[in-house]
This record gives sequence, C-alpha cells and structure tokens, in this order.
Amino acid sequence: MTSPTLLAPMAGVTDRPYRTLCRRYGAGMAVSEMVTSDQSLWNSRKSLHRLDHSGETGPRSIQIAGSDPQMMAAAAQANVENGAQIIDINMGCPAKKVCNKAAGSALLRNEKQVAEILEAVVRAVSVPVTLKIRTGWCPDTRNALRIAHIAEQSGIQALTVHGRTRACRYNGDAEYDTIAEVVQQCRIPVIANGDITSAEKGLAVLQHTGAAAIMIGRAAQGAPWIFSEINHFLETGEQLAKPTIAEVGSLIDEHIRNLHSFYGDFLGVRIARKHMGWYLQYLPQVGAGKKVFNQLEQTSDQLNFIRLYFQSLDGNLRLAA
Ligand SMILES: Cc1cc2nc3c(=O)[nH]c(=O)nc-3n(C[C@H](O)[C@H](O)[C@H](O)COP(=O)(O)O)c2cc1C
Repeated sequence: MTSPTLLAPMAGVTDRPYRTLCRRYGAGMAVSEMVTSDQSLWNSRKSLHRLDHSGETGPRSIQIAGSDPQMMAAAAQANVENGAQIIDINMGCPAKKVCNKAAGSALLRNEKQVAEILEAVVRAVSVPVTLKIRTGWCPDTRNALRIAHIAEQSGIQALTVHGRTRACRYNGDAEYDTIAEVVQQCRIPVIANGDITSAEKGLAVLQHTGAAAIMIGRAAQGAPWIFSEINHFLETGEQLAKPTIAEVGSLIDEHIRNLHSFYGDFLGVRIARKHMGWYLQYLPQVGAGKKVFNQLEQTSDQLNFIRLYFQSLDGNLRLAA
C-alpha cells in the first residue's frame, strides 16, 4: 500500500471510475463495492459493473458478501481468476436486504459461521483475504474482539473495524475504544473506520487506536482530494492547501466523462447526478445548480453545464477550508 489512508467500499459509489480518482489523490487502496457471492446473479448489469476492475493499479481488493462458506469460497476464486489481488469479506453491511439473508453484519451474531466462512475463503485462494466488520450486532453484544481472534486464527491478513454496531446503523458517533482494544489484543493489522472527516481526525484516530491504517467512506464523496490532505498532514503535520476551483473543475469533467463511458449514456447520466450533487456541496452556489443538473438527460448537456459553471467562477480561488 502506498499510503495508510484507504477508500472504504461503498455500494453505488466506489465504482471503477471513482476508485481510480481516489487512488490518484493518494488513497493507498480502494476496495470495490460489495458483490454478492451468488454467481448466478453476476450477469446482471449491476454485478458486471461491480466486478469490473480492468486497468486499475493494484492492490485490487474485491469485496464479497454472502453467508454460505462454499459459495463465498467459489466467489473468491472466481474474482481472483478475474484479477483480484485481495479478497475482502463483508461482515459490516447493515442493509436489510443483506442482513435478511444472514450476510453482512448479521453474521456477527453467529461466530461459528464466521469461522466457517473465513476458513473456507482463505483455503480457496492464494491471495490475501481481509475482513470488514462492525464492532458487533448491538451495543450489548460487542464481539469485535472475539471475531478478530477468529479472523486471526483463520488466516485473515487484515481487519477493518467500523466503530459502530449494526444496531447503531449510522447514528451517533463512531467509537474508537473497541478498535483500540482489537489492535492491542490482535497481531493482524487493523484498519480503523468510521466518521473520519478531516486530516486532524485521521491522525487522532490513528493515535487513539494504534491502527495500521484508516479507511474513509462518506467524507470522500465529492471530495476525493481528502486522501492527499490526510496523507500530507500525517507526513508533515501541516495542512495541505485546498484544491483550486480550476483543478476541481477539470477533475469533475474527467470524472463525469469516465462515468458516461463506464456505464453508458443512460445509466452514466444518472450516476453522474449523484456525484455532481456531492461535489456541489463544496463549491460556490451558482443559480439553482444541482436542480438544473439533475434535470439534464444528455451526456453532452451535463458536460456543457460543467463547462459553463466553472467558466462563471474564478479558477484561481481555492475551495473553502
Ligand atoms: C452508500 C454506502 C454504501 C456502503 N457500501 C458498503 C459496502 O458495499 N461494503 C462495506 O463493507 N461497507 C459499505 N459501506 C460502509 C462503509 O464502507 C463504511 O464502513 C461506513 O460508511 C463508515 O465509514 P465513514 O464514516 O467513513 O463513511 C457503505 C456505506 C455507505 C454510506
């Protein structure tokens, strides 16, 4: 890994164009969106996009979700054949769709099954296998430490811990004491995750937990430069200047073009709206920006909007700190 700041897997967000962008801004690794371990679904448009990591710089980590050890093992093998250099197992997702199938964070309630899945996947592939968890199912049953020991014994090579339980969903603040305990008690590298929104917070979480790396999710939406900011602060103790408006304009133009070509015109235009909405949060308000952009149906209209929007601003100005 080139840096200890990693992009978190986010379904519907961290597709190949976005992972590539975050890597360029210094993310040490960018884990794919989760893909189901049920290979009968891999022909769907959604899965085909999620499985696509062609041309990405390594390490290419592909996340799989599921509950059946043999299916998980087979899915891991298929991903390795397709170029995955790391297999990440999702035991952190709180979504009902995933938990109702006893996958994602629901697995944290069944430690025996956790062991069976981890052992089966580690046995099936020759590349490193990593695991991503929450601190437990609910605050009364925080079993991250026991899961970490199971992971260690099963041959898992790194463990990401999001400092919330499943019951907490995204409410309240992430807590880092449980992560610190896991770091102290386990030998495998731990990656701390949850609510890291700035360079200072990144450093504070690293110091508090002793984790080997940090993982950033929502704070990277519309702000891929956060990785360079955190890396610079960790290396020098100083704040990196915010990007200029001109720099952001050209990165957005490139990102939106890449979305159009990755997803095709119809889906690309829709996915671009989501990212543009996130970018606009950090940019000066010009007219009814987001509302207008969301009504555009053609790729060329979206690109024109971006060109005119940035022409109306002073490109030398920097984003507000
Ligand atoms: C839109 C969205 C999609 C997510 N999808 C996944 C996923 O596919 N796999 C996973 O392990 N976690 C997923 N997560 C959880 C994130 O990886 C991360 O653990 C969580 O957002 C906390 O980190 P943050 O506070 O930096 O956002 C998702 C989160 C969000 C907001």
